[in-house]
Amino acid sequence: MAENQYKDGKMRSVWDMSRLPGFPALSGNVKTDVLVIGGGMAGLLTAYMLREKGIDCIVAEKGRICSGNTAGTTAKITSQHGLIYHKIARSAGTDAAGQYLRANEAAVEKYAEMCGEIDCDFSRRDNYVYSVSDKKKLEDEMKVLGRIGYDAGFNDEVLLPVAAAGAVKFPRQAQFDPIKFAAAISRDLKIYENTWVREMEGNTAVTDGGRITAGAVVVATHFPFINKHGLYFLKLYQHRTYEIALENAPSVSGMYVDEDLNGLSFRESGDLLLLGGGGHRTGKKGGNFTELCDFAAKEYPSARVRYSWAAQDCMSLDGVPYIGRYSRGSAGLYVATGFNKWGMTGSMTSAMILSDMIAGKKNEYAEVFDPSRSMLKPQLLVNGFEAVTNLLTFSTKRCPHLGCTLKWNSAEHSWDCPCHGSRFSPEGKVLDNPANGNKKHGF
Ligand code: FES
Repeated sequence: MAENQYKDGKMRSVWDMSRLPGFPALSGNVKTDVLVIGGGMAGLLTAYMLREKGIDCIVAEKGRICSGNTAGTTAKITSQHGLIYHKIARSAGTDAAGQYLRANEAAVEKYAEMCGEIDCDFSRRDNYVYSVSDKKKLEDEMKVLGRIGYDAGFNDEVLLPVAAAGAVKFPRQAQFDPIKFAAAISRDLKIYENTWVREMEGNTAVTDGGRITAGAVVVATHFPFINKHGLYFLKLYQHRTYEIALENAPSVSGMYVDEDLNGLSFRESGDLLLLGGGGHRTGKKGGNFTELCDFAAKEYPSARVRYSWAAQDCMSLDGVPYIGRYSRGSAGLYVATGFNKWGMTGSMTSAMILSDMIAGKKNEYAEVFDPSRSMLKPQLLVNGFEAVTNLLTFSTKRCPHLGCTLKWNSAEHSWDCPCHGSRFSPEGKVLDNPANGNKKHGF
Protein backbone atom coordinates (compact mmCIF):
# COMPACT_ATOMS: atom_id res chain seq x y z
CA MET A 1 0.00 0.00 0.00
CA ALA A 2 1.14 3.59 0.58
CA GLU A 3 4.50 4.70 1.85
CA ASN A 4 2.55 6.66 4.47
CA GLN A 5 0.55 3.70 5.62
CA TYR A 6 -1.26 3.91 8.91
CA LYS A 7 0.81 2.01 11.47
CA ASP A 8 0.17 1.32 15.14
CA GLY A 9 -2.57 3.93 15.28
CA LYS A 10 -0.42 6.83 14.04
CA MET A 11 -2.15 9.04 11.52
CA ARG A 12 -0.47 10.16 8.31
CA SER A 13 -3.11 12.21 6.58
CA VAL A 14 -2.84 14.37 3.50
CA TRP A 15 -2.68 17.57 5.56
CA ASP A 16 0.73 19.00 6.44
CA MET A 17 0.75 19.25 10.24
CA SER A 18 4.17 20.92 10.30
CA ARG A 19 2.47 24.21 9.34
CA LEU A 20 0.91 24.52 12.80
CA PRO A 21 2.49 26.85 15.33
CA GLY A 22 3.63 25.34 18.64
CA PHE A 23 2.45 26.32 22.12
CA PRO A 24 3.84 25.69 25.62
CA ALA A 25 2.50 23.23 28.16
CA LEU A 26 0.79 24.61 31.25
CA SER A 27 3.05 25.07 34.23
CA GLY A 28 1.40 26.41 37.38
CA ASN A 29 -2.14 27.54 38.18
CA VAL A 30 -4.04 30.06 36.02
CA LYS A 31 -7.46 31.70 35.82
CA THR A 32 -9.52 32.70 32.81
CA ASP A 33 -13.06 33.69 31.85
CA VAL A 34 -13.52 30.66 29.59
CA LEU A 35 -11.59 27.41 29.33
CA VAL A 36 -11.98 25.47 26.09
CA ILE A 37 -10.87 21.86 26.51
CA GLY A 38 -9.77 20.43 23.17
CA GLY A 39 -7.71 22.12 20.47
CA GLY A 40 -9.36 20.71 17.36
CA MET A 41 -11.27 22.85 14.89
CA ALA A 42 -14.32 23.24 17.17
CA GLY A 43 -12.22 24.33 20.15
CA LEU A 44 -10.03 26.69 18.16
CA LEU A 45 -12.95 28.37 16.40
CA THR A 46 -14.85 28.76 19.66
CA ALA A 47 -11.82 30.38 21.30
CA TYR A 48 -11.29 32.58 18.23
CA MET A 49 -14.87 33.88 18.38
CA LEU A 50 -14.78 34.39 22.13
CA ARG A 51 -11.59 36.41 21.69
CA GLU A 52 -13.30 38.47 18.98
CA LYS A 53 -16.02 39.25 21.54
CA GLY A 54 -13.39 40.43 24.02
CA ILE A 55 -13.73 37.40 26.31
CA ASP A 56 -10.54 36.05 27.89
CA CYS A 57 -10.11 32.43 26.90
CA ILE A 58 -7.63 29.56 27.28
CA VAL A 59 -7.48 26.41 25.15
CA ALA A 60 -6.09 23.27 26.81
CA GLU A 61 -5.10 20.53 24.37
CA LYS A 62 -3.86 17.15 25.53
CA GLY A 63 -1.40 16.76 22.62
CA ARG A 64 -0.74 19.05 19.65
CA ILE A 65 -3.58 21.19 18.32
CA CYS A 66 -5.54 19.59 15.45
CA SER A 67 -3.82 16.25 16.06
CA GLY A 68 -7.11 14.40 16.63
CA ASN A 69 -10.00 14.26 14.22
CA THR A 70 -9.18 17.57 12.53
CA ALA A 71 -6.05 15.92 11.11
CA GLY A 72 -8.22 13.30 9.42
CA THR A 73 -11.05 15.40 8.06
CA THR A 74 -11.86 15.53 4.36
CA ALA A 75 -12.50 19.24 5.00
CA LYS A 76 -15.70 19.59 3.05
CA ILE A 77 -17.58 22.73 4.04
CA THR A 78 -21.23 22.14 3.28
CA SER A 79 -24.72 22.41 4.68
CA GLN A 80 -25.60 19.12 2.95
CA HIS A 81 -25.01 16.32 5.46
CA GLY A 82 -26.19 13.14 3.78
CA LEU A 83 -29.98 13.08 3.60
CA ILE A 84 -30.33 14.89 6.92
CA TYR A 85 -33.23 17.18 6.13
CA HIS A 86 -35.80 14.44 5.60
CA LYS A 87 -34.52 12.76 8.77
CA ILE A 88 -34.88 15.91 10.89
CA ALA A 89 -38.28 16.79 9.42
CA ARG A 90 -39.54 13.29 10.28
CA SER A 91 -38.20 13.30 13.85
CA ALA A 92 -38.45 16.97 14.89
CA GLY A 93 -40.55 18.72 12.23
CA THR A 94 -40.02 20.95 9.23
CA ASP A 95 -39.21 24.05 11.29
CA ALA A 96 -36.32 22.23 12.97
CA ALA A 97 -35.03 21.12 9.56
CA GLY A 98 -35.17 24.74 8.39
CA GLN A 99 -33.29 25.92 11.47
CA TYR A 100 -30.58 23.29 10.88
CA LEU A 101 -30.24 24.44 7.28
CA ARG A 102 -29.93 28.12 8.16
CA ALA A 103 -27.37 27.42 10.88
CA ASN A 104 -25.19 25.44 8.50
CA GLU A 105 -25.59 27.93 5.66
CA ALA A 106 -24.41 30.61 8.09
CA ALA A 107 -21.43 28.39 8.97
CA VAL A 108 -20.49 27.96 5.29
CA GLU A 109 -20.68 31.71 4.72
CA LYS A 110 -18.65 32.44 7.86
CA TYR A 111 -15.89 30.21 6.50
CA ALA A 112 -16.09 32.03 3.17
CA GLU A 113 -15.73 35.37 4.97
CA MET A 114 -12.80 34.23 7.14
CA CYS A 115 -11.05 32.40 4.31
CA GLY A 116 -11.09 35.61 2.28
CA GLU A 117 -8.26 36.72 4.59
CA ILE A 118 -6.48 33.38 4.97
CA ASP A 119 -4.41 31.49 2.41
CA CYS A 120 -5.97 28.04 2.89
CA ASP A 121 -6.93 26.76 -0.60
CA PHE A 122 -10.59 27.66 -0.03
CA SER A 123 -12.58 27.02 -3.18
CA ARG A 124 -16.27 26.88 -3.93
CA ARG A 125 -17.47 23.46 -5.11
CA ASP A 126 -20.85 21.88 -5.71
CA ASN A 127 -21.69 19.11 -3.25
CA TYR A 128 -23.58 15.94 -4.20
CA VAL A 129 -25.23 13.24 -2.10
CA TYR A 130 -25.97 10.21 -4.25
CA SER A 131 -27.70 6.92 -3.65
CA VAL A 132 -26.62 3.74 -5.44
CA SER A 133 -30.10 2.23 -5.49
CA ASP A 134 -32.78 4.26 -3.73
CA LYS A 135 -34.11 7.15 -5.77
CA LYS A 136 -37.12 7.51 -3.48
CA LYS A 137 -34.86 8.55 -0.58
CA LEU A 138 -33.43 11.31 -2.75
CA GLU A 139 -36.90 12.42 -3.83
CA ASP A 140 -38.04 12.55 -0.19
CA GLU A 141 -35.06 14.77 0.60
CA MET A 142 -35.89 17.05 -2.33
CA LYS A 143 -39.47 17.45 -1.07
CA VAL A 144 -38.34 18.52 2.42
CA LEU A 145 -35.76 20.89 0.93
CA GLY A 146 -38.52 22.43 -1.16
CA ARG A 147 -40.69 22.89 1.93
CA ILE A 148 -37.91 24.67 3.84
CA GLY A 149 -37.16 26.91 0.90
CA TYR A 150 -33.86 25.49 -0.36
CA ASP A 151 -33.40 25.32 -4.11
CA ALA A 152 -31.41 22.08 -4.43
CA GLY A 153 -30.58 20.56 -7.80
CA PHE A 154 -31.20 16.97 -8.84
CA ASN A 155 -28.87 15.02 -11.14
CA ASP A 156 -29.86 11.68 -12.67
CA GLU A 157 -26.24 10.53 -12.68
CA VAL A 158 -22.87 11.42 -11.17
CA LEU A 159 -19.51 11.75 -12.92
CA LEU A 160 -17.98 8.97 -10.86
CA PRO A 161 -17.31 5.26 -11.46
CA VAL A 162 -20.25 4.26 -9.25
CA ALA A 163 -23.75 3.20 -10.14
CA ALA A 164 -26.08 5.91 -8.85
CA ALA A 165 -29.86 6.24 -8.87
CA GLY A 166 -29.38 10.00 -8.81
CA ALA A 167 -27.92 12.75 -6.65
CA VAL A 168 -29.14 15.78 -4.71
CA LYS A 169 -26.93 18.78 -5.44
CA PHE A 170 -26.16 21.76 -3.20
CA PRO A 171 -24.42 24.40 -5.31
CA ARG A 172 -21.59 26.68 -4.14
CA GLN A 173 -20.43 24.76 -1.10
CA ALA A 174 -16.68 24.71 -0.42
CA GLN A 175 -13.50 22.84 0.46
CA PHE A 176 -10.24 24.01 2.00
CA ASP A 177 -7.03 22.98 3.74
CA PRO A 178 -8.06 22.79 7.42
CA ILE A 179 -4.50 22.89 8.74
CA LYS A 180 -3.53 26.06 6.86
CA PHE A 181 -6.75 27.60 8.20
CA ALA A 182 -6.17 26.40 11.78
CA ALA A 183 -2.58 27.63 11.72
CA ALA A 184 -3.81 31.13 10.90
CA ILE A 185 -6.63 31.35 13.45
CA SER A 186 -4.67 29.81 16.32
CA ARG A 187 -1.63 32.06 16.14
CA ASP A 188 -2.93 34.73 18.53
CA LEU A 189 -4.89 32.45 20.87
CA LYS A 190 -3.81 31.53 24.40
CA ILE A 191 -3.19 27.80 24.02
CA TYR A 192 -1.52 25.19 26.19
CA GLU A 193 -0.47 22.07 24.32
CA ASN A 194 0.50 18.77 25.93
CA THR A 195 -1.88 19.79 28.71
CA TRP A 196 -4.23 16.91 29.36
CA VAL A 197 -7.28 17.74 31.50
CA ARG A 198 -7.53 14.63 33.64
CA GLU A 199 -10.61 15.67 35.60
CA MET A 200 -12.82 18.58 36.55
CA GLU A 201 -13.30 19.83 40.10
CA GLY A 202 -16.25 22.17 39.62
CA ASN A 203 -15.03 24.73 37.09
CA THR A 204 -11.38 23.94 37.75
CA ALA A 205 -9.55 21.69 35.31
CA VAL A 206 -6.86 19.48 36.79
CA THR A 207 -3.86 18.82 34.53
CA ASP A 208 -0.42 17.32 35.19
CA GLY A 209 1.18 20.78 34.95
CA GLY A 210 -1.29 22.80 37.01
CA ARG A 211 -4.92 23.83 37.40
CA ILE A 212 -7.05 26.11 35.24
CA THR A 213 -9.99 27.83 36.93
CA ALA A 214 -12.59 29.34 34.64
CA GLY A 215 -15.94 31.11 34.78
CA ALA A 216 -17.23 28.85 32.01
CA VAL A 217 -15.90 25.64 30.44
CA VAL A 218 -16.43 24.34 26.90
CA VAL A 219 -15.81 20.63 26.39
CA ALA A 220 -14.68 20.26 22.77
CA THR A 221 -12.80 17.00 23.19
CA HIS A 222 -14.47 15.12 20.32
CA PHE A 223 -16.24 12.64 22.68
CA PRO A 224 -17.12 14.45 25.96
CA PHE A 225 -15.09 12.98 28.81
CA ILE A 226 -17.24 14.02 31.79
CA ASN A 227 -19.55 11.08 32.52
CA LYS A 228 -21.55 12.35 35.48
CA HIS A 229 -23.55 14.83 33.41
CA GLY A 230 -25.30 14.63 30.08
CA LEU A 231 -25.38 10.83 29.45
CA TYR A 232 -23.12 11.16 26.41
CA PHE A 233 -22.10 7.52 26.82
CA LEU A 234 -25.70 6.69 25.80
CA LYS A 235 -26.22 9.52 23.33
CA LEU A 236 -23.14 8.90 21.16
CA TYR A 237 -21.28 6.13 19.43
CA GLN A 238 -18.25 6.39 17.17
CA HIS A 239 -17.90 5.45 13.54
CA ARG A 240 -14.60 4.79 11.82
CA THR A 241 -13.90 5.78 8.22
CA TYR A 242 -10.85 5.18 6.05
CA GLU A 243 -9.28 7.56 3.58
CA ILE A 244 -6.73 7.25 0.81
CA ALA A 245 -5.24 10.06 -1.28
CA LEU A 246 -4.60 8.94 -4.86
CA GLU A 247 -2.23 10.51 -7.34
CA ASN A 248 -2.75 10.07 -11.06
CA ALA A 249 -6.51 9.63 -10.62
CA PRO A 250 -9.05 11.51 -12.75
CA SER A 251 -10.21 14.91 -11.56
CA VAL A 252 -13.60 15.29 -9.83
CA SER A 253 -14.63 18.92 -9.72
CA GLY A 254 -17.35 18.51 -7.10
CA MET A 255 -17.54 16.89 -3.68
CA TYR A 256 -19.50 13.63 -3.46
CA VAL A 257 -20.75 11.29 -0.77
CA ASP A 258 -22.97 8.22 -0.75
CA GLU A 259 -26.07 8.64 1.39
CA ASP A 260 -25.21 5.25 2.94
CA LEU A 261 -23.09 5.80 6.05
CA ASN A 262 -20.66 3.10 4.92
CA GLY A 263 -20.52 4.27 1.30
CA LEU A 264 -17.83 6.19 -0.56
CA SER A 265 -16.77 9.84 -0.44
CA PHE A 266 -14.84 11.80 -3.09
CA ARG A 267 -13.19 15.19 -3.32
CA GLU A 268 -9.96 16.41 -4.85
CA SER A 269 -7.16 18.30 -3.14
CA GLY A 270 -4.63 19.78 -5.53
CA ASP A 271 -3.68 16.95 -7.86
CA LEU A 272 -4.82 14.24 -5.43
CA LEU A 273 -8.16 12.48 -5.24
CA LEU A 274 -9.32 11.90 -1.66
CA LEU A 275 -11.33 8.70 -1.54
CA GLY A 276 -13.11 7.74 1.69
CA GLY A 277 -15.17 4.75 2.75
CA GLY A 278 -14.88 1.27 4.23
CA GLY A 279 -16.60 2.60 7.36
CA HIS A 280 -17.98 0.74 10.36
CA ARG A 281 -18.92 1.28 13.98
CA THR A 282 -15.66 1.44 15.95
CA GLY A 283 -14.87 -1.97 17.39
CA LYS A 284 -16.80 -3.76 14.63
CA LYS A 285 -15.70 -5.16 11.30
CA GLY A 286 -15.92 -3.21 8.04
CA GLY A 287 -14.43 -2.74 4.62
CA ASN A 288 -11.57 -0.52 5.86
CA PHE A 289 -8.55 0.13 3.62
CA THR A 290 -9.06 -3.11 1.71
CA GLU A 291 -12.37 -1.91 0.28
CA LEU A 292 -10.89 1.43 -0.77
CA CYS A 293 -7.78 -0.05 -2.34
CA ASP A 294 -9.82 -2.69 -4.20
CA PHE A 295 -12.09 0.05 -5.56
CA ALA A 296 -9.11 2.19 -6.59
CA ALA A 297 -7.33 -0.75 -8.27
CA LYS A 298 -10.46 -1.57 -10.29
CA GLU A 299 -11.65 1.92 -11.21
CA TYR A 300 -8.39 3.89 -11.27
CA PRO A 301 -5.79 1.31 -12.35
CA SER A 302 -3.16 3.97 -13.13
CA ALA A 303 -3.50 5.68 -9.76
CA ARG A 304 -1.17 5.19 -6.80
CA VAL A 305 -1.96 5.60 -3.10
CA ARG A 306 0.11 8.47 -1.72
CA TYR A 307 -1.42 8.80 1.78
CA SER A 308 -3.73 6.64 3.83
CA TRP A 309 -5.32 7.35 7.17
CA ALA A 310 -8.47 6.83 9.20
CA ALA A 311 -10.83 9.17 10.98
CA GLN A 312 -13.35 8.63 13.72
CA ASP A 313 -16.65 10.45 14.09
CA CYS A 314 -19.05 10.87 16.99
CA MET A 315 -22.57 9.98 15.90
CA SER A 316 -25.58 11.42 17.72
CA LEU A 317 -28.92 9.68 18.19
CA ASP A 318 -30.78 11.77 15.62
CA GLY A 319 -28.08 12.95 13.19
CA VAL A 320 -27.90 16.43 14.72
CA PRO A 321 -24.85 17.58 16.77
CA TYR A 322 -25.06 18.34 20.49
CA ILE A 323 -24.11 21.99 20.91
CA GLY A 324 -25.00 24.02 23.99
CA ARG A 325 -25.23 23.44 27.74
CA TYR A 326 -23.55 20.17 28.70
CA SER A 327 -26.69 19.18 30.62
CA ARG A 328 -29.62 20.95 32.23
CA GLY A 329 -28.02 20.69 35.67
CA SER A 330 -24.46 21.80 34.88
CA ALA A 331 -24.18 25.58 35.07
CA GLY A 332 -21.29 27.13 33.17
CA LEU A 333 -20.46 23.90 31.35
CA TYR A 334 -20.90 23.69 27.55
CA VAL A 335 -20.33 21.03 24.92
CA ALA A 336 -19.76 20.65 21.19
CA THR A 337 -19.87 17.09 19.88
CA GLY A 338 -21.71 14.59 17.67
CA PHE A 339 -20.87 16.15 14.32
CA ASN A 340 -21.85 12.96 12.47
CA LYS A 341 -19.00 13.19 9.92
CA TRP A 342 -19.57 16.86 9.15
CA GLY A 343 -16.98 18.27 11.51
CA MET A 344 -16.04 21.43 9.66
CA THR A 345 -19.51 22.98 9.53
CA GLY A 346 -20.28 21.45 12.94
CA SER A 347 -17.23 23.20 14.37
CA MET A 348 -18.20 26.57 12.94
CA THR A 349 -21.82 26.19 14.04
CA SER A 350 -20.58 25.29 17.54
CA ALA A 351 -18.32 28.32 17.69
CA MET A 352 -21.11 30.68 16.65
CA ILE A 353 -23.67 29.22 19.08
CA LEU A 354 -21.38 28.76 22.09
CA SER A 355 -19.67 32.13 21.80
CA ASP A 356 -23.11 33.78 21.67
CA MET A 357 -24.40 31.78 24.65
CA ILE A 358 -21.34 32.55 26.76
CA ALA A 359 -21.53 36.22 25.83
CA GLY A 360 -25.18 36.25 26.97
CA LYS A 361 -26.55 36.75 23.46
CA LYS A 362 -29.49 34.76 22.08
CA ASN A 363 -28.53 32.58 19.14
CA GLU A 364 -31.35 31.95 16.69
CA TYR A 365 -30.13 28.46 15.75
CA ALA A 366 -29.37 27.08 19.22
CA GLU A 367 -32.63 25.24 19.84
CA VAL A 368 -32.27 22.46 17.24
CA PHE A 369 -28.80 21.57 18.62
CA ASP A 370 -29.82 21.57 22.32
CA PRO A 371 -27.98 18.59 23.91
CA SER A 372 -30.90 18.06 26.33
CA ARG A 373 -33.45 17.33 23.59
CA SER A 374 -35.35 14.02 23.59
CA MET A 375 -33.23 10.86 23.57
CA LEU A 376 -36.10 8.60 22.49
CA LYS A 377 -34.64 7.47 19.17
CA PRO A 378 -34.06 3.95 17.77
CA GLN A 379 -30.27 4.45 17.91
CA LEU A 380 -30.53 4.61 21.72
CA LEU A 381 -31.54 0.92 21.75
CA VAL A 382 -28.60 0.01 19.50
CA ASN A 383 -26.16 1.88 21.76
CA GLY A 384 -27.66 0.27 24.88
CA PHE A 385 -27.48 -3.21 23.33
CA GLU A 386 -23.81 -2.75 22.41
CA ALA A 387 -22.98 -1.55 25.92
CA VAL A 388 -24.73 -4.46 27.68
CA THR A 389 -23.32 -7.09 25.28
CA ASN A 390 -19.75 -5.84 25.55
CA LEU A 391 -19.90 -5.33 29.29
CA LEU A 392 -20.98 -8.95 29.72
CA THR A 393 -18.47 -10.44 27.26
CA PHE A 394 -15.50 -12.08 28.96
CA SER A 395 -12.11 -10.71 27.99
CA THR A 396 -8.89 -9.80 29.75
CA LYS A 397 -8.59 -6.59 27.71
CA ARG A 398 -11.13 -4.14 29.02
CA CYS A 399 -11.71 -0.47 28.31
CA PRO A 400 -10.80 1.91 31.17
CA HIS A 401 -13.67 4.24 30.20
CA LEU A 402 -16.62 2.16 31.43
CA GLY A 403 -15.29 -1.39 31.27
CA CYS A 404 -16.44 -2.84 27.92
CA THR A 405 -14.43 -5.58 26.28
CA LEU A 406 -11.94 -4.42 23.64
CA LYS A 407 -11.69 -5.83 20.11
CA TRP A 408 -8.50 -6.20 18.07
CA ASN A 409 -8.45 -4.04 14.92
CA SER A 410 -6.12 -5.90 12.58
CA ALA A 411 -6.29 -3.20 9.88
CA GLU A 412 -4.82 -0.59 12.24
CA HIS A 413 -3.13 -2.68 14.94
CA SER A 414 -5.14 -1.23 17.79
CA TRP A 415 -7.54 -2.35 20.51
CA ASP A 416 -10.92 -0.71 19.87
CA CYS A 417 -13.97 -0.38 22.10
CA PRO A 418 -17.36 -1.09 20.48
CA CYS A 419 -19.26 0.76 23.22
CA HIS A 420 -18.13 4.38 22.79
CA GLY A 421 -15.13 4.08 20.48
CA SER A 422 -12.06 4.51 22.67
CA ARG A 423 -8.98 3.05 20.96
CA PHE A 424 -5.62 1.94 22.33
CA SER A 425 -2.21 1.04 20.96
CA PRO A 426 -0.98 -2.54 21.50
CA GLU A 427 0.78 -1.24 24.65
CA GLY A 428 -2.37 0.39 26.08
CA LYS A 429 -1.79 4.03 25.12
CA VAL A 430 -5.01 5.96 24.44
CA LEU A 431 -5.39 6.76 20.74
CA ASP A 432 -8.99 7.98 20.79
CA ASN A 433 -11.16 9.09 23.70
CA PRO A 434 -13.50 9.09 25.72
CA ALA A 435 -11.01 7.02 27.76
CA ASN A 436 -9.07 9.73 29.55
CA GLY A 437 -5.81 8.13 30.66
CA ASN A 438 -3.23 5.55 29.68
CA LYS A 439 -4.40 3.08 32.29
CA LYS A 440 -3.51 -0.51 31.55
CA HIS A 441 -6.32 -3.03 31.74
CA GLY A 442 -4.96 -6.38 30.65
CA PHE A 443 -2.29 -5.02 28.30
FE1 FES B 1 -16.72 3.59 26.88
FE2 FES B 1 -14.94 1.81 26.13
S1 FES B 1 -15.25 3.77 25.33
S2 FES B 1 -16.43 1.64 27.69
